[in-house]
Amino acid sequence: MPSIGARGLPVPGYLTAHYWWAYVHPRAVRFFERQWLVNLILWGNYGRLRSAALKELGHPINNKVLQIACAYGDITPKMVGQLRDSGSLDVIDILPVQLANLGAKLGPDERVKLHCMDSAALKFDADRFDQVLIFFLLHEQPADVREATLREAARVLKPGGTLLIVDYSKPSWYHPLRYLWKPVLRVLEPFAHDLLNRGIQHSIPSDLPLNVTLKRDFFGGLYQMIRLQRDFGAAQKADQ
Ligand SMILES: C[S@@+](CC[C@H](N)C(=O)[O-])C[C@H]1O[C@@H](n2cnc3c(N)ncnc32)[C@H](O)[C@@H]1O
Repeated sequence: MPSIGARGLPVPGYLTAHYWWAYVHPRAVRFFERQWLVNLILWGNYGRLRSAALKELGHPINNKVLQIACAYGDITPKMVGQLRDSGSLDVIDILPVQLANLGAKLGPDERVKLHCMDSAALKFDADRFDQVLIFFLLHEQPADVREATLREAARVLKPGGTLLIVDYSKPSWYHPLRYLWKPVLRVLEPFAHDLLNRGIQHSIPSDLPLNVTLKRDFFGGLYQMIRLQRDFGAAQKADQ
């Protein structure tokens, strides 16, 4: 099992208030860590979304990848299976119970490191990673934390590096689940509404040096994958 690099941090209020049942309580982790259940929660789209993200990250992965926040299901083990040569994966999460759960899903591998860190205040140096993945995290964070997470993701990316975001999106007006899904999200995911209304793309602070290079809708627009590239500004200045 990969080692977990730090002791526990204070758990943010939004997690204990709204997500204790999904992530914080050890019984929740045991309950939700089922591939079929994760797939059911995503209306049968887990495999498609996971495969699309893994394809974007590259097969093989031979550069430095950061995954911001653990996820249930097998996306991370599959990502590790794609690592080759100089490829490495760092995963951060604020909950030790989540990191322990992920560690149990991964075999020993010195290229993989798990860290107890807040996505809004990463302890990595700037310009460190070639790719950053944020898989279904942003809709669970209040707007200020979401913005800080995106700022941190941009900061730790190397110039030219890519940020891949997979998350909920606003479904098309004719989507049959649209009217059922809204009240469900409002009760279970109180911060998702805001992300859906603004859209992932417009939730990214405009001063960040990130440009959208791919936008793909899934399942009638209920889910979206966005790839952004950090501009080369810093590297070009250094070269001059
Ligand atoms: C990635 S999100 C949602 C994952 C999705 N439901 C799934 O399992 O596919 C859930 C994770 O985000 C983590 N998380 C939430 N806020 C965080 C923060 N500020 N810093 C680091 N991790 C955070 C939670 O501890 C949890 O493990």
